This record gives sequence, structure tokens and C-alpha cells, in this order.
Amino acid sequence: MRKILITAILGALCTGPAVADPVADNTAEAREIVKQFFGDLKGKLQAAMKEGGPTNAIGVCRNEAPGIARSTSEQTGWSVGRTSLQLRNFQNRADDWERQALEEFDQRKAAGEDITKMEKAEVVSVNGQETFRYMKAIPTAALCLNCHGAELKPEVKAKLDELYPTDQATGYQEGDIRGAFTLSKTL
Ligand code: HEC
Repeated sequence: MRKILITAILGALCTGPAVADPVADNTAEAREIVKQFFGDLKGKLQAAMKEGGPTNAIGVCRNEAPGIARSTSEQTGWSVGRTSLQLRNFQNRADDWERQALEEFDQRKAAGEDITKMEKAEVVSVNGQETFRYMKAIPTAALCLNCHGAELKPEVKAKLDELYPTDQATGYQEGDIRGAFTLSKTL
């Protein structure tokens, strides 16, 4: 008897009207936006490196990255950016939610999780407004070490020192979490 009842309840739940899942739906959208943002940025960075080496490519990261973030935000209606616990540009500093996510990412990496798929998604209240927030870890690749590694070419170091006197974003190794993409959308 009880078994039949449970089956009936489960049946009713499963065949009920489809409930929208804001986390799953928005996560799928956020992943697409990250793919586009990262693709644009990496393409421009690689082209600039090929053309004039890392000293030349610093300009891409300095000028194009915020520009691509802005245009992606305008196109999608999402707020899109990058952040890190060790900043080069203070404008990219993390807020409380982002800092907590970045610390969690470090712990999850230490526990053995693959950082290439690491993400966090949550619906939170921001000033009383339901907001979807999403972050995706950015792994440090070999290419990144030209400007974020432990040993920089003297001319790269000189240029970075000049542009970012408080730079904390060096000393990384391949496979470290460099930072994260951070996206949000008011629901
Ligand atoms: C040619 C030098 C150069 C290379 C190569 C480079 N970066 Fe950067 N990176 C910069 C500069 C310059 C900034 C500061 C941009 C700004 O002013 O907004 C930066 C900023 C960042 C930030 C934003 C957080 C912060 O510290 O301000 C992240 C995340 C980041 N880089 C990740 C990467 C990753 C991942 C790679 C490799 C795929 C990479 N970078 C390769 C120069 C570089």
C-alpha cells in the first residue's frame, strides 16, 4: 500500500508542469558567453604575441581585455569580467562573493578537482534583487607564463613595472588557477 502511494506521489511530481531551473538554464548561457569572451581574447593575444612578442602583447591585455568584456556585456546584457586573488589591475578586484568563490576554487583544486571545468553558480540576493552569479576558473597555460610566470624577460618586467607598479600577478606556474571569469545577471 505504502509503495503504491510513494509511486503515485513520485509519478505526480515527475509528470507535473516543467519547472524552470534558473541555475541550470543560466549556467548554460554563462558557459557560452565565457567561451566567446575567452576565444576573442586568446585569439587577439596570440596574434599580438606572434607579431611583436610579449612586450607588444601587454597592450592587448591592457586595452582589449576590458574592451572585449565591455562589448560582451553590451551584447548579452550580462555583466562580464575577470578577477583574481593576485591582481595585476586593481580594477579587477573581487567582491566578497567572488573572493569566497576563488578561495573555494583553490580548495577544490587542492582536493584534486580538474580546474579546466571548475565553476560555481548561484542565485543570490543583491540589494533585494535576485541575481544569478557565475564564475569559471581560468587555468594558467604555458602562453600565460610570458607575463604571469616566475621568470619574465627583462623588457616585459620593465613594461609591467611601469604600467602596474603594484602588480601581484606573477610567479604562476602552468596548471595554477590564474583567476576566474565572473558573470552576473539580474533575474
Ligand atoms: C603579454 C602579456 C600577457 C599575457 C601573455 C597574459 N596576460 Fe593576463 N594580464 C596581462 C595584463 C597586462 C593584465 C592587466 C589587464 C588590465 O589592465 O585590465 C592581465 C590581466 C589578467 C587577468 C585579470 C586579473 C588581474 O590580475 O588584473 C587575468 C585573469 C589574466 N590576465 C589571465 C591570463 C591568462 C589565463 C593568460 C594566458 C592564457 C594570460 N593572462 C596571458 C598580461 C598578460
